[in-house]
Amino acid sequence: MAIGFFDSGIGGLTVMADAMRKLPTHDYIYIADRLHVPYGTKPKDEVKAFIIETTDLIVQAGIDALVVACNTATSIAVAELRERYSIPVIGMEPAVKPAVEMNRETGRRVLVFATPLTLQQPKYYALVSRVDEKNIVDSLPLPELVHFCESLQFDKEIMSDYFREKLAPYDLSRYGIVVLGCTHYSYYKNILRDLLPPHIGIIDGNAGTVRRLQSMLYRMGIAEGSGSGNVRLMCSGNDPVYLEKIDKALQIIRESEDLVSVGL
Ligand code: DGL
Repeated sequence: MAIGFFDSGIGGLTVMADAMRKLPTHDYIYIADRLHVPYGTKPKDEVKAFIIETTDLIVQAGIDALVVACNTATSIAVAELRERYSIPVIGMEPAVKPAVEMNRETGRRVLVFATPLTLQQPKYYALVSRVDEKNIVDSLPLPELVHFCESLQFDKEIMSDYFREKLAPYDLSRYGIVVLGCTHYSYYKNILRDLLPPHIGIIDGNAGTVRRLQSMLYRMGIAEGSGSGNVRLMCSGNDPVYLEKIDKALQIIRESEDLVSVGL
């Protein structure tokens, strides 16, 4: 069987590409909820129903484990998904904990980028209050960024202008690290790297998620895998044009080694 990856759109490919590099002897199925992307600007209950409809499709396709390669979906539905399916479900959350730990010595602040929906969830508040003893974490919703990404807008000038405007209220000399708390945002690592002052690190939760997947596969006794990196692409509505877009985005991410390898 295969490992399943789910996201609202093409964001989760940044996680799957990392898994494919590290676990080449497995096969993969990716599903995007093309009918309802973006999730991060919609009401929680609506999004919860979309998530379940879409993950039902990928589970029915036959997978050994499901990676919810979406911070927003994890924050609102991971508990339901774990109850609903008999296979393991691996979720992801903004890498706030490692970011705070890395900045303990520097005295600088942590800036978390995520969707509005993720940042509104009790799960996010709980995470921050658990790890942020010194009150150094600030959060910035980027509601437009998923739209840019879904339109494959990776133009350096256009996107740098967007980030500059969003970051204008912040004194960046006070920050030591930016956390990319949405899988779509990882496409912009290189643009952000060139834009942010060099003392600011950038992390996402991708590598940590793949590590948790790896240890889950080990516990399941299938760490070695029986595949060869085959990928099947699926989307809600089964739209061939969107499937082509997923394919193109996967190529972009796989060709850019930096995009998959930055992170913790
Ligand atoms: N890629 C998703 C995440 O990690 C959410 C994108 C959306 O708003 O649909 O949060």
